[in-house]
Amino acid sequence: MQFSIFDNPLNTWQGSSLLIGIFQDDIDEYLEKIGFILNTKLISENIKKKNFEGENGQNLSFDFLDEKINSLSLIGLGKKEKIDNDSLRNYLADFARKIVDKEKKVSILMPWEHLGQDSLNISFEAIRLSTFKDNRFNNKKDERNKLQEVEFIVENSFSSISFKESESLCEGVEFARRLVAAPPNSLTPLDMSIKASEIGESQDLEVNILEKAKCEELKMGAYLAVAKGSDLEPKFIHLIYRPQGPSRRKIALVGKGLTFDSGGYNLKVGASQIEMMKYDMGGSAAVLGAARALGSIKPKDIEIHFIVAACENMINGSAVHPGDVITASNGKTIEINNTDAEGRLTLADALTYASKLKPDTIIDLATLTGACVIALGNDVAGLWSNSNDLAKELVLSGKKAGEDIWQMPLQRSYKDGLKSHIADMKNTGPRPGGSITAALFLEEFFDKEINWAHIDIAGTCWTDKNKGTNPSGATGFGVRTLVQWIKDI
Ligand code: BES
Ligand code: MN
Ligand code: ZN
Repeated sequence: MQFSIFDNPLNTWQGSSLLIGIFQDDIDEYLEKIGFILNTKLISENIKKKNFEGENGQNLSFDFLDEKINSLSLIGLGKKEKIDNDSLRNYLADFARKIVDKEKKVSILMPWEHLGQDSLNISFEAIRLSTFKDNRFNNKKDERNKLQEVEFIVENSFSSISFKESESLCEGVEFARRLVAAPPNSLTPLDMSIKASEIGESQDLEVNILEKAKCEELKMGAYLAVAKGSDLEPKFIHLIYRPQGPSRRKIALVGKGLTFDSGGYNLKVGASQIEMMKYDMGGSAAVLGAARALGSIKPKDIEIHFIVAACENMINGSAVHPGDVITASNGKTIEINNTDAEGRLTLADALTYASKLKPDTIIDLATLTGACVIALGNDVAGLWSNSNDLAKELVLSGKKAGEDIWQMPLQRSYKDGLKSHIADMKNTGPRPGGSITAALFLEEFFDKEINWAHIDIAGTCWTDKNKGTNPSGATGFGVRTLVQWIKDI
């Protein structure tokens, strides 16, 4: 999809499909403007007759106005002081979805000067991300969206409109969505390591893939215990972005990378949606998507490590038994009282590895617990952090980027739930507060000096229906927050 800017006089505009966003406060001025653009007074009269007032979310569209213009859509933006980015995103996403298979080109006029220059980037992202399609696994492989060109009509020229960063961001989100949507027979740990190496090469990142033998040498007993029941080799992925000059910050982003989670001997049965567990690598998809985006955005003085302990949780004769005691790479012993709490075991060694790099901040993303889905549903991710400042930053960056995150407590009193009679700890506590004990478990695996945040995306990494800028399927949740946060710090 091509995006362009039209900044010539309005009455010289030509096209066949037009979307106009109108503030309630400016309705009269805009009615005149529409007449001016379309060269007719008639349309303004019609709009008035239909009682279009520009109220927040109000829609009005006309088809086949005359031989020149095919469709005119109006969207009410409500009161000027009340408009927010989320509404703008949703309006454009809804419009784009409606038009994507109808028009080849659309032009969009919004009160950009009031909405601010960011709103052009927000619009770009909303349109591109909401019309994303993934036809890799069906017979419509060569089908493209009919909509190929989007033109923003801009009256006051903005100093430097560039869609380059938006484009990189969208590529990162789309990359993550493709990883998440890929079925487990098509995206194995090996495939994931290949994809990671490809981004590494194309974005000029340092690539390290640690094979099983290397992980054994590093004594990653928790991660390797999870991988034991699979015929597929685990792959530990580590990409590094180094800025040109010296760095002011050193960040590690860690993602849970289970290309399939059967539950192991605590097999997923009943309503536990075993058939959806291809998306149990949503955290690593977010991290690799962020690598893809940030590798091309090239933030100035921040060093970033992207870490994924990729494997499958399966069952065979050498799979981990419920009740096994294993030793993680930081020396702590864990009684595996539930083989389905495997994500935290892989993260234990990934966090230990990240901690050894001595970053100032570690952020992990994981489809970690069903309990988080019960607590927050499918639109909000849970966040735990040992730093309230970091928590606030991430929630705010998420909000700016269009991803909702809610801070949850690291309730110390629940730590008792992880006590083991035989080992240093168990991998699961009682059912109540299950997403909190999971976060408390993770806290055992990095240096306490490091600022850390854990984002549970079990509910947000997938959506069954079109929702805002996410078409049904994989959302790529996390990429937008991570990229925004790196830009904000
Ligand atoms: N991958 C699942 C969590 C999950 C559940 C993600 C539903 C997306 C949707 C994770 O590995 C898991 O199985 N967690 C268990 C933990 C329990 C055994 C303490 C869970 O949430 O049931
Ligand atoms: Mn599991
Ligand atoms: Zn899992």
